[in-house]
Amino acid sequence: MSSFRKPFVAILWVVLFLGLHEAAEPEKSTYIVHVAKSEMPESFEHHALWYESSLKTVSDSAEIMYTYDNAIHGYATRLTAEEARLLETQAGILAVLPETRYELHTTRTPMFLGLDKSADMFPESSSGSDVIIGVLDTGVWPESKSFDDTGLGPVPSTWKGACETGTNFTASNCNRKLIGARFFSKGVEAILGPINETEESRSARDDDGHGTHTASTAAGSVVSDASLFGYASGTARGMATRARVAAYKVCWKGGCFSSDILAAIERAILDNVNVLSLSLGGGMSDYYRDSVAIGAFSAMENGILVSCSAGNAGPSPYSLSNVAPWITTVGAGTLDRDFPAYVALGNGLNFSGVSLYRGNAVPDSPLPFVYAGNVSNGAMNGNLCITGTLSPEKVAGKIVLCDRGLTARVQKGSVVKSAGALGMVLSNTAANGEELVADAHLLPATAVGQKAGDAIKKYLFSDAKPTVKILFEGTKLGIQPSPVVAAFSSRGPNSITPQILKPDLIAPGVNILAGWSKAVGPTGLPVDNRRVDFNIISGTSMSCPHVSGLAALIKSAHPDWSPAAVRSALMTTAYTVYKTGEKLQDSATGKPSTPFDHGSGHVDPVAALNPGLVYDLTVDDYLGFLCALNYSASEINTLAKRKFQCDAGKQYSVTDLNYPSFAVLFESGGVVKHTRTLTNVGPAGTYKASVTSDMASVKISVEPQVLSFKENEKKSFTVTFSSSGSPQQRVNAFGRVEWSDGKHVVGTPISINWG
Ligand SMILES: *[C@@H]1O[C@H](CO)[C@@H](O)[C@H](O)[C@H]1NC(C)=O
Ligand SMILES: *[C@@H]1O[C@H](CO)[C@@H](O)[C@H](O)[C@H]1NC(C)=O
Ligand SMILES: *[C@@H]1O[C@H](CO)[C@@H](O)[C@H](O)[C@H]1NC(C)=O
Ligand SMILES: *[C@@H]1O[C@H](CO)[C@@H](O)[C@H](O)[C@H]1NC(C)=O
Ligand SMILES: *[C@@H]1O[C@H](CO)[C@@H](O)[C@H](O)[C@H]1NC(C)=O
Repeated sequence: MSSFRKPFVAILWVVLFLGLHEAAEPEKSTYIVHVAKSEMPESFEHHALWYESSLKTVSDSAEIMYTYDNAIHGYATRLTAEEARLLETQAGILAVLPETRYELHTTRTPMFLGLDKSADMFPESSSGSDVIIGVLDTGVWPESKSFDDTGLGPVPSTWKGACETGTNFTASNCNRKLIGARFFSKGVEAILGPINETEESRSARDDDGHGTHTASTAAGSVVSDASLFGYASGTARGMATRARVAAYKVCWKGGCFSSDILAAIERAILDNVNVLSLSLGGGMSDYYRDSVAIGAFSAMENGILVSCSAGNAGPSPYSLSNVAPWITTVGAGTLDRDFPAYVALGNGLNFSGVSLYRGNAVPDSPLPFVYAGNVSNGAMNGNLCITGTLSPEKVAGKIVLCDRGLTARVQKGSVVKSAGALGMVLSNTAANGEELVADAHLLPATAVGQKAGDAIKKYLFSDAKPTVKILFEGTKLGIQPSPVVAAFSSRGPNSITPQILKPDLIAPGVNILAGWSKAVGPTGLPVDNRRVDFNIISGTSMSCPHVSGLAALIKSAHPDWSPAAVRSALMTTAYTVYKTGEKLQDSATGKPSTPFDHGSGHVDPVAALNPGLVYDLTVDDYLGFLCALNYSASEINTLAKRKFQCDAGKQYSVTDLNYPSFAVLFESGGVVKHTRTLTNVGPAGTYKASVTSDMASVKISVEPQVLSFKENEKKSFTVTFSSSGSPQQRVNAFGRVEWSDGKHVVGTPISINWG
């Protein structure tokens, strides 16, 4: 095991923190101890006794924080590095992994997705309301109208969960919509000390807003007349309005820790959720070291679809998190809705921006305009409007142009406001391109793209007395093109397994209206004392619960489908072109996006209900995949909780995992074959294959080209990729394989990556 050779950043941070308090003691950190359950010595009556006994041999004082038996086999405890090393050498101990810290990936959506037209297509009363979505997040604001249970029948009989009591939260906060609420704080408290209940609820109550937003996006009830300060006004509803919500609070002001996340997945499996939604992510490490990937494997085995955010680290390549093939990885796109706020300069030029500012402090006439980089107190990065960098005497009464980056956009607004300025223009830099994210700023402010920002700076640097006025225009619908891939959405290739294309698909994640906590204002800043029922925020954190809710809808229509079949339906029916036939665009470049940006494309829930064929996967397929990765027996045991011997006589290949996409990795050229099996989930029919691609140097052939299916029949095919071009032609390239019977189109993306 190599778990000590590559320490995580989070460990260092923990060590530093404890160093302040317990200087003399050897520092203890939290570790997750994975055990080989079947190797319990016979002398022990049950596992808890074995765990305690083996722990005692390395530490007198260590206590078991959590015992796990469903998400993993093992426990969490606090040890010194030396104790952890010793423990790992003991018989039956598979791995002792350091606690890791994960981060959150921070009403028109249903209409944009075509769900309004098709409400009738989804099963209504009975099964639709039996699907349960577990949301691992910052908790929930149970009083939000999004969790009104009017019209819902009794709690599903499959439900085994609970509504736990804690700070400002009792069992009466749950109802037939919000059927469960639990919190997991032992991990965070072991590191940061007991939760201060005057500052943070030691319960499932959401003091942050993020968890209420994601849960209501996935399964919020229908709420009419919803808006943020009048912006995006209309009916708010989650994707699966009749599904039930179970909130598992794992993210605290101090972060989301792996021991707490695993404990929540453990409970969610026992509680019988059908879908798990995780809008959080951590470092990119191998699957057998990533607690989310490990927990998700167990969830998948229990028939639970796990939907995760892809991350907000785009547009750089290789920036994805949550890439395990048993996870559904969701990137973010825009909606056709905008919140324009124009920047009218003194020279008559006019640039469009976006804003959710709504207040009465908008100046009537143009004001003096300054660039933050010219009015800072000499600090580094003065252009970024970071706390303490602006000179009040230089900005008071003016409007300030700040560059985006390093700190939260709304935080910059707060800094500008407290320095005495009357407004802010926030300019993108190359990192964000033309992508605009609207915010409920504390002062009149608008955000502009890089091109507009550059033009505005040109004016600022050349005019002796620059002035500006910001014009707020409310909500505008019908923006085209839409969707475009959000610049922040994390991008492929997959850095862990380049032969598996990720993200899987994109869903709405920019300027999303959903429920909010009353413990914080819409910016989440401590100085923001406004309180709102709904908030508009952006991130793959927002796109993930869209897919979680849609997966619940598909699950309710097809209760017997595996998580892989549900995901396949969502992926193979996703679209990659606009109605005009043009390819989806990437807001980072203004050019067509690729499968590394959008995966299979943008989710199309109505088509996903009836995909025709699916690419299914079983636990055995994933075990074969782990063998193909050359994982050791103990790595497989850590991840999949079983003694599994890869068959030495068998040729395992990563490219044979029955995934609904083709990520071709050419190390140096040659021929690569991917074999897949399709399962007919529609009527009997004959499907024909077609291939499109933008690559001249790679020949693609499908064999056989025609497949005739009886009902429920499975048929296999092989796609052969032969490279022919010169090394100069070895650039990433893309294509698509489609199977169609004339009614269904079963599409899969191809990416060609020269390793
Ligand atoms: C407790 O919850 C109520 C809503 O029932 C809320 O109004 C109140 O602010 C909460 N108190 C704290 C301390 O969070
Ligand atoms: C808890 O927070 C309150 C309010 O910020 C503070 O006054 C108090 O000292 C804190 N208590 C502890 C034990 O840190
Ligand atoms: C700026 O352009 C927008 C959109 O064309 C328009 O609505 C607005 O009135 C213009 N403002 C000025 C000051 O020209
Ligand atoms: C303002 O900052 C820009 C960019 O750093 C610089 O080019 C310009 O000369 C500055 N203007 C003044 C008046 O300092
Ligand atoms: C696994 O090992 C085999 C044999 O050494 C090798 O050919 C293959 O490339 C390895 N696979 C991976 C994913 O590293």
